[in-house]
Amino acid sequence: MAEAQAQGDYDQRLSITRSDEIGKLAGALNQMAESARDRMSELHRLEQIRRDFVANVSHELKTPIAAVRGLVETVIDDPKMTDEDRERFLAKIRNQSMRLSSIVTDLLTLSQLESGNGMLETELLDLCEVVRSTVTSLAQTAEARNIRVEVRLPEDPVRLLGDEDALSQVTSNLLDNALKYSPRDAEVWIRLRQENGKAVIEIQDRGVGIEPRDRDRIFERFYRVDKARSRELGGTGLGLSIVKHIVLAHGGAVDVESSPGAGSTFRVFLPVENSA
Ligand SMILES: Nc1ncnc2c1ncn2[C@@H]1O[C@H](COP(=O)(O)OP(=O)(O)OP(=O)(O)O)[C@@H](O)[C@H]1O
Ligand SMILES: [Mg+2]
Repeated sequence: MAEAQAQGDYDQRLSITRSDEIGKLAGALNQMAESARDRMSELHRLEQIRRDFVANVSHELKTPIAAVRGLVETVIDDPKMTDEDRERFLAKIRNQSMRLSSIVTDLLTLSQLESGNGMLETELLDLCEVVRSTVTSLAQTAEARNIRVEVRLPEDPVRLLGDEDALSQVTSNLLDNALKYSPRDAEVWIRLRQENGKAVIEIQDRGVGIEPRDRDRIFERFYRVDKARSRELGGTGLGLSIVKHIVLAHGGAVDVESSPGAGSTFRVFLPVENSA
């Protein structure tokens, strides 16, 4: 069996009937074969994830690239196009290229977070500020769909050591989703409080909600419940995986409570700075 293992064959097993040194040796060989098999299947799993990732990235980039190309060709092929039509095509081209650049930005963010090097620049900050600026930056998006954003902040600052840009991205990805997956004229809530030595950010909507079977998967890269619908809304399925990475890198956690048709509540928990 040792010779077989040396050749890379880990399928053999010995039946152990003795308890002396030979028996122990047989047991050790069986264990070695077992763990070698586990390592190999883990390698296969990682390789598969990598391959899926490359396939997903290529597919996501291909769609807007094909769209831009089609739009450009239409303009080129039709020199007598009215100015109005040309404007329309150009606006579409601009939208698609913005989408492309946001996909690439998200991918770079993810890869930097995953490699874990120097992405986060921590400083002492006030989470109230982070929430306020996020709400301001998405005010137009909310207004366009006539959605009211109800903000509730504590009176005192919520201080923690963190990366301001990264944490702003967390709140804005979550608020962006709440707006995107809510109907027009809806209301969404964003709340911040301190609880058991943790800062809790809560983003609640009364939108489409999430089925239990999708609940854990939505944090995976590229996972979208309704691919067609999400893409129509300009989504790539990277927002929540970025959220999760950033929150974990801050020693925090994120969870979601949701019932289909009734809405969702996302909660982010972050360790706060002990200010006496
Ligand atoms: N508040 C929500 N209500 C209902 N479904 C949601 C909500 N937030 C996320 N989802 C579901 O989870 C999926 C993944 O969310 P995520 O933010 O990662 O991607 P996205 O919004 O589709 O695209 P991106 O954020 O990259 O622009 C969404 O496509 C959607 O199906
Ligand atoms: Mg999103």
